[in-house]
This record gives sequence, structure tokens and C-alpha cells, in this order.
Amino acid sequence: MFNKRVKVKDLLASEATGQEVTVMGWVRTFRNNQFIALNDGSTNNNLQIVVELGMLDENTLKRITTGASLKVTGEAVPSLGKGQKMEIKARSLEILGDSDAEKFPLQPKKHSLEFLREIAHLRFRTNTFGAVFRVRHALAFAIHQFFNEKGFVYIHTPIVTASDAEGAGEMFRVTTLPFDNPPRNEDGSINFKEDFFGRSTNLTVSGQLEGELAAMAFSEIYTFGPTFRAENSNTARHLAEFWMIEPEMAFYDLEDNMNLAEEFIKYIIRYAMEHNREDLDFLAQRLAEEEKALPQDKRSEMGLIEKLEFVMNNNFERITYTEAIDILLNSPAYKKKKFQYEVKWGIDMQSEHERYLVEKHFKKPVIVTNYPKEIKAFYMRQNDDGKTVAAMDILAPGIGEIVGGSQREERLERLTERMKEMHIPVEEMWWYLDTRRFGSVPHAGFGLGFERMVLFVTGMTNIRDVIAFPRTPKNAEF
Ligand code: 4AD
Ligand code: MG
Repeated sequence: MFNKRVKVKDLLASEATGQEVTVMGWVRTFRNNQFIALNDGSTNNNLQIVVELGMLDENTLKRITTGASLKVTGEAVPSLGKGQKMEIKARSLEILGDSDAEKFPLQPKKHSLEFLREIAHLRFRTNTFGAVFRVRHALAFAIHQFFNEKGFVYIHTPIVTASDAEGAGEMFRVTTLPFDNPPRNEDGSINFKEDFFGRSTNLTVSGQLEGELAAMAFSEIYTFGPTFRAENSNTARHLAEFWMIEPEMAFYDLEDNMNLAEEFIKYIIRYAMEHNREDLDFLAQRLAEEEKALPQDKRSEMGLIEKLEFVMNNNFERITYTEAIDILLNSPAYKKKKFQYEVKWGIDMQSEHERYLVEKHFKKPVIVTNYPKEIKAFYMRQNDDGKTVAAMDILAPGIGEIVGGSQREERLERLTERMKEMHIPVEEMWWYLDTRRFGSVPHAGFGLGFERMVLFVTGMTNIRDVIAFPRTPKNAEF
């Protein structure tokens, strides 16, 4: 059998000293023709392999280069070096794959994140990305565990749809029509009846509408899947393809919704703190080093671990949109004209406003509720004041909006009226409106942007660095 190996993480946690083991992985460094630092991705800790002088011929020694893959069998012995309790005294060593040292782009030194983005196919093999993607995995797992423990049903909503869930028109079209000569109607418009689905379709921007249909049967459901937005936002917080978690709950009002969202965020942070402490410590140190280069006022007030503990152990602030605008209008930043964008009731708050509230004013996550209806989606429940809707956004330090959600408009008349006002095609959405025709109930839900959550937990600062192969305007490499 080829694969009778032990993973480095398990080995280092074991009491295998004195036993013969087989390990496999990639060379990080090779010193003095004797000491190999081997990494297999199970942990950021490299395993030291000691090659006795004279054991390998000249040619094999030359082939042990950074990036090469090895199979090593030998005895686990206590390590004399500091920082590690165990190393392997090699008895046999096989090179599984060579790596030309001249051509391999990853050198055993610090590379910039920008450079690593250009070699995203190899960046998994660095300490930083090793840690980021193990934490990302843990968060995904924790999300399923959280909802499973609560009895929510995981629904896979479609990727290809004919509707625009957010009504914002930021969709990628899906078609098999030839774009140089598409079939046309008599009036010159494109005839989508000839298209693959017999109608115009796009990649989904959100699974919410289909999620609502399922919640009308299972009471509590969630989706966790890829979503796509053709918004031309070239920022450190936006992706054209991102993953979203969208729970949808029957018999929930806005307050129930906020309570669930807060509990959920705390739960998944706690999971990562308990299961990925080594990686988080590494990332905390990385962030601290990175921030040393920044001017004092640009540095975070808390270290990464401290920040995560703080969020886990403190209640989120809850304010209305109207209160948020008042705080901004009365802020020193506003008075000193520090905001680039206008502040007044009715604005869609810009990132500078959200970050002021969270980072300067409250210094903790903030849930903002009851936004003006003009700046929110058609499905949100209309409040009695006639001006606002039962929306809630969660704003996180360093990130801004991390969750967007609302209580849904469950009253058929009110909903259809609002859809018409907002030019949402009422007839095409007959299936959505059926939920309000047959046993409609108060219900609510939210969407958590998965990559923004990963950013928050890992302390990384660019969203392109927490998804394996980012899709952004003018970029779809790999
Ligand atoms: O606020 P949004 O647009 O809300 C919805 O899509 C609702 N259907 C959710 C619901 O109620 N079920 O998006 C939800 C979250 C945002 O708060 C943000 O974290 C993330 O998705 N998000 C993005 N993340 C990365 N890149 C983008 N372009 C994003 N757009 C939204
Ligand atoms: Mg939003």
C-alpha cells in the first residue's frame, strides 16, 4: 500500500517517539545537506527530517529543493532543536516530484500578498494561506454544525435562475445563444425563447427567494452556496463570486432574526478559536507585524485574538438607522468635515460611515435596524411609519457590513404594491407570491457574506486573500 503515512499534525500530537513512521509532504527548506523542513498542509508546523551525512548520493541531495515532494520513512526521535518535540531520522527517502529551484516561484522568504495573488495556484503552500484556508474550512464546518444542532434544513437553491432576488440588476447572464448573431424578434430585441431555458436567465445573486419557499414548509432552513454579482466594485470587500449563508425562518420577527444572527456569529468564532488556535495565533502575529509598518492611528486597538474574544463575550450594539444618522451628524468627524460622502437621513451609508459607527463610536459590532425603504429590497416588511422597513444590517469592525437581513413582507397586498412601485415583474414571480397566498406567516432571514466573515476571523485585509481563486472585475485567472 502506498499511503500508509501519518500526517504531520497527528504525528506531532502523538507519542510516536521510538517508532518507525512514514511521512509525505513538500520541502519548505533544506539546510546543510542535512535538515529538511517538510510540510504536508495538516498544520503550519513543519516536520524536521534529518538526513545522516553519507546516506544519500550527491544527485538525490541536489533534488531536495524547495517545493519538491518527498516520501520519508524513519524513526521518530526527540528533537534537539528548539520549538519542536520530535523529528524524523530518515532511513529511506524517495523524491515523489522534483521542483526546479530556479523556476519555482515560492522562495523561502517573505513574499507580498499582491505577488502571491498572482500565483494563487501555489500560495496554498505558504504559512499565511495554509492558516487562512484551514480557518475557512473550520468556519464552513461550524456553520453547518450550528444550523444542524438547531434543526435547520440545508436547502440547495439554484445557481441558474430567471429572477433577480435583490432587484438590483447586478446579474451575470447565462446563455447559449451565439452572441455574434442571436435570434431576434420582429422588433429587433433578442428572442430568448430560442435560448437554452427558453427564457432569459442569470447566475443567482441570492438564494433567499427560494429559501423562503422552503421555510414555508420546514419552518427553519438555510442555504450556503455561491452567489454572483456583476457590480463593478473594485474594493477589498467585494467579489463578483462569493459564498453566502442565508437562513430563513418562519415565525420570526426582526428581533428573533437579530438574536439568531448574533448567536450564530459568536458560535462560529468560538468554534474556530477552539479548533484552530494555532493558525489563529499565527495570523494574529502576522497581523501585528503588518501593522507595525502603519502609522499609530491606522493600527487596530486590539490584537486579533483579543478582538475575537471581545466579540464572543460582548453584546452587539443595536440601534436604528435614524439613531445612526444622528450619531454621525453629531460626530466630531462630521463637524470637522472628515467624511467624504454626504450624511443625511435617507442616504445609503458609505463604508466610511459604517466604520465610524463601529470602530470609533461604539468600538464593537453594531446592528442597525429600520432603514429607509427607498434604499432596501422590495421584500422587506414595511413599518407602520410608512418610511422605513424592518431591515437589519450587522456592521463589523474593520469590515463594515457583514450581514444583511430583514423581516419579510408577509402581507400579499403590501408586497405586490411595493413590487409594482419598484418595477419588479409581479406575474413572473407568481411562485414567490404564492407563499403569501397559501398560509403566509411572519418570517425573517439574513445573509452572511462568508468571505467577509473569513476576513474578520483571520485578520486578513483584502477579500481576494480569503477565497482560493477570487473573481473580481477584469480578473478570472485560474
Ligand atoms: O445585503 P445583501 O445583498 O443581502 C442579500 O443578498 C439578502 N438576500 C440576504 C438575506 O436576507 N437572505 O448581501 C448579504 C451579505 C452582505 O452583508 C455581505 O456580507 C455579503 O453578503 N456581500 C458580499 N460579499 C462579497 N462580495 C460582494 N460583492 C458582496 N455583496 C454582498
Ligand atoms: Mg446589504
